[in-house]
Amino acid sequence: MQIGIPTETIVGEHRVAATPETVKKLINAGHHVVIERGAGVRAAYIDSAYEQVGAQITQDAYAGSAIILKVRAPQGEEIQKLTSGSTVIAMFDPYRNTELDQFAAQQVSAFALELLPRTLSRAQNMDVLSSQANLAGYKSVLLAAAEYQRMFPMLMTAAGTVKPARVVIMGVGVAGLQAIATAKRLGAIVEATDLRPTAKEQVESLGGKWLDVPMSDEEKQKAADAAKNGYGWMPGEQYIKDQNIIVDKAVSNADIVITTALLPGRNAPRLIKAETVAKMKPGSIILDMAVESGGNVEGSVCGENVVTENAVTILGIANIPATLSTEASALYARNVFNFVETLFDKEQTFAINQADEIQKALLITHDGQVLFQRG
Ligand code: NAI
Repeated sequence: MQIGIPTETIVGEHRVAATPETVKKLINAGHHVVIERGAGVRAAYIDSAYEQVGAQITQDAYAGSAIILKVRAPQGEEIQKLTSGSTVIAMFDPYRNTELDQFAAQQVSAFALELLPRTLSRAQNMDVLSSQANLAGYKSVLLAAAEYQRMFPMLMTAAGTVKPARVVIMGVGVAGLQAIATAKRLGAIVEATDLRPTAKEQVESLGGKWLDVPMSDEEKQKAADAAKNGYGWMPGEQYIKDQNIIVDKAVSNADIVITTALLPGRNAPRLIKAETVAKMKPGSIILDMAVESGGNVEGSVCGENVVTENAVTILGIANIPATLSTEASALYARNVFNFVETLFDKEQTFAINQADEIQKALLITHDGQVLFQRG
């Protein structure tokens, strides 16, 4: 089958959905792979590296391809280029994507990688949310450190003592844990909190201090259910009140704050109020990793660095994984390859199998229908 890898068209999207490593595996499995000229170059995968493993470089990777591998869902004119009956595998941002009916109208089968049932162990090597969040958590600390005009580690010098940076991480999922580990490696003092009580142990095992927000029994149950089914949930009023008090105190004393809290399918929870930002020391840095989903921080703006009256910089950097485009593409491409493998049987015959739990969860358009329900 012909598999096509187009260039990503969204501004700043420097990742590519297949690397020479995964293209080689696809070719070994008997597929013909076409790569749009320069598709990988912004991630340091040059055309000749793809050619060396047997891929064909082309001007239009959509033409004649039965399967298209992308990082971000095709948009507008890209959708028109898809062959009727073809299959697209990408991150579709399904809750916000307003073009799904166009994929259905084109008779395209679309698989949205974000909808993976993450708790299934056989799905873990296809988990793009985890692979990309892990890298983003690391890079978020480096981006904040580069903006910060002081040091992270404590230093005793002849000119006096340099105090270690105080870092607060809000939301300790995949990205938050990697942010804690990175900030610790740089020598900072780290505090962290999350809606999931189970995160306490993980924070402490990385040398961070857990900011404890009391939780009712009902909320503990909701947290346990969410851990099983992967759905986000909103805590009650009392939790939010208590969290505000604890966050206000920790953030007011912090030098660096990184927020990562997301609610799948919904706007990100607002965790830091402007009045708390106003209490921070001049020169402090906040990086709002949830800025593309509405933001955890009052005053953050997607794609902009906002400097407040008290000289606090709020970084609203979009798409942090794309700033590590080589590594992010390498991990993403492996996740994609592992999913593509499920679409072929032992004889390498392609078949979409809706009885397969993973395929069923990811399939958002098929047979002219939009299957995805925003819920
Ligand atoms: P995410 O990116 O959706 O959210 C980040 C974090 O923000 C989460 O830990 C969430 O609990 C927290 N959060 C949401 N609302 C909050 C609020 N109001 N206050 C404080 N914190 C809030 O989450 P991510 O990183 O994609 O994964 C979350 C969890 O799922 C992690 O524990 C991760 O290890 C687990 N997971 C489990 C997998 C498995 O069982 N195989 C696979 C992938 C993730």
